[in-house]
Amino acid sequence: MAFNPDTSLPNRHRLVLGATGAGKSQLIRAVIPARGIRMIGWDPDEDHDGHHFDNRAQFARAVARGVSSGKPFRLLWAGAIDLKTWEWWCALVFTALDGRTPTEILIEELADVSPSAGKATPKFGELIRRARKYNGGLTMASQRGTEISKTVYTQAAEYWIGRQEATDIPRMSRLAAVSEQRLAAVEPLHYLCKRGPDITWHRLKFEGQRRILTELTE
Ligand SMILES: Nc1ncnc2c1ncn2[C@@H]1O[C@H](COP(=O)(O)OP(=O)(O)O)[C@@H](O)[C@H]1O
Ligand SMILES: [Mg+2]
Repeated sequence: MAFNPDTSLPNRHRLVLGATGAGKSQLIRAVIPARGIRMIGWDPDEDHDGHHFDNRAQFARAVARGVSSGKPFRLLWAGAIDLKTWEWWCALVFTALDGRTPTEILIEELADVSPSAGKATPKFGELIRRARKYNGGLTMASQRGTEISKTVYTQAAEYWIGRQEATDIPRMSRLAAVSEQRLAAVEPLHYLCKRGPDITWHRLKFEGQRRILTELTE
């Protein structure tokens, strides 16, 4: 069970949507601090730094140890991606949340664990609905915005929309509140960020090992 609920905590769940190669994983690496934080990830392709696991017992032990240590950690799941494992992972992540310490929850390739665009699976639904008040912020990435659960859309506070496949442009342009033409012109590593009614444009650049996200003026 998660501990120390605080209903005054803000919703900071974000959803990153873009075709393959749009730069979703790189964007996430730019927006989630590389060190000094608690991060638990679902990272099947090992796109992120941290300790990766493919054994459930070892992962669960590492999370429990990390939580009781009180220190920062980055623990990522890179094992099986079937729905049973996904639900196990979501339930485990929820138990690790502590309202006094922020936890970044990273989920890559969300469409792969989304059986339908309807209601979220039970444990994922519980995690996304309840993480906020236990200081958990979900950052979710998906190639296909049309395939993920409507629960994700009702819970996300912030959308990052990058280059889209042609078939996704009509729906994503409505979500982003920009024209289909504008969205079709988005280049890799360029993003629109929508928070409530506010829209900003950003570009990700690489300088050596560093990723720098700059706001563009449109
Ligand atoms: N060090 C780097 N310098 C410049 N571009 C990079 C670097 N690393 C990745 N990229 C670019 O990032 C993009 C892939 O980003 P990625 O986050 O893996 O995409 P996605 O997760 O959306 O499939 C490609 O356009 C690639 O050229
Ligand atoms: Mg990726």
